[in-house]
Amino acid sequence: MKPKILMARAVFPEVIARLQQHFEVESNQDDRIFSAAELAEKLRDKDGVIATASERISAELLSACPRLKAVCNQAVGYNNIDVAAATLAGVMVTNTPDVLNETTADFGWALLMATARRVTEAEHWLRAGHWKQWRYDSFLGADVHGATLGIVGMGRIGQAIARRSLGFDMQVLYHNRSRLAPELEARANNARYVGKEQLLREADHVIMVLPYSTESHHTIGATELGWMKPGATLVNLARGGIVDDAALIAALRAKKIAAAGLDVFENEPALHPDFLTLSNVVLTPHIASASEPTRRAMADCAADNLLAALLPEKEGVLPPN
Ligand code: DGY
Repeated sequence: MKPKILMARAVFPEVIARLQQHFEVESNQDDRIFSAAELAEKLRDKDGVIATASERISAELLSACPRLKAVCNQAVGYNNIDVAAATLAGVMVTNTPDVLNETTADFGWALLMATARRVTEAEHWLRAGHWKQWRYDSFLGADVHGATLGIVGMGRIGQAIARRSLGFDMQVLYHNRSRLAPELEARANNARYVGKEQLLREADHVIMVLPYSTESHHTIGATELGWMKPGATLVNLARGGIVDDAALIAALRAKKIAAAGLDVFENEPALHPDFLTLSNVVLTPHIASASEPTRRAMADCAADNLLAALLPEKEGVLPPN
């Protein structure tokens, strides 16, 4: 009998076809978001699941699904999974690191450029028919070239963002749980390790790329926003809870910082309604890894992980390295 698995969300059909060769697959190509009770019900008779950052895999759910052996997240972040409870229950947890580093770093730059140079604000204004003449002071923004970039969270994505800053003649400051090895700092445009307060006080543009955990909850709140330069921009690519949305809204409204670019939100997909009333924020729907090749690579990586977890003895299920 084939092991049973659930694809919790819609995925590229080719990935389902591949997994069907080895598993009895229940898919969700309508992409309906299951309630916690529905997810537990669906997982009760499953050996494995491919989940996304939207599915909460709690201790309660794990205890209701004793047959479950593997939770394979189609994401690098795994704060949606209670890893300690999974470990206790003997459930393997996997994520999709590396395959999305460069694409996510590209998007960090897209958000930074759009935010600093007010790209979406200008486009909305133009589309609304307001453009009647060129003006010397239309949409004056901040320079990116030559500025100081602050990166909070210097993992693989942070380092990929830093490498790109070389072409913009930027100085890079970073804050991280631990300091990088000297050769990694050198590759990251000679990034300089500093404390959070120094980074926020000195950087012109700040990018958040650290993993979410109880320790990183509200890494940026009212106090930290108060340390930032009045002309500074803040980009969050990581997870919503890293920035206190209400404090950020207050800072943007009072122009304590110039602008923010956000791909993630505290209660996404619900947005704090005040974000929609502000012109100095660029808002995108959690798409930093959304290039076609990278989303395919993430899906393939999650499928490989599930095959390795549930059929470790079977040769030929994984493509050769
Ligand atoms: C990730 O991989 O963690 C992205 O945020 C997509 O969820």
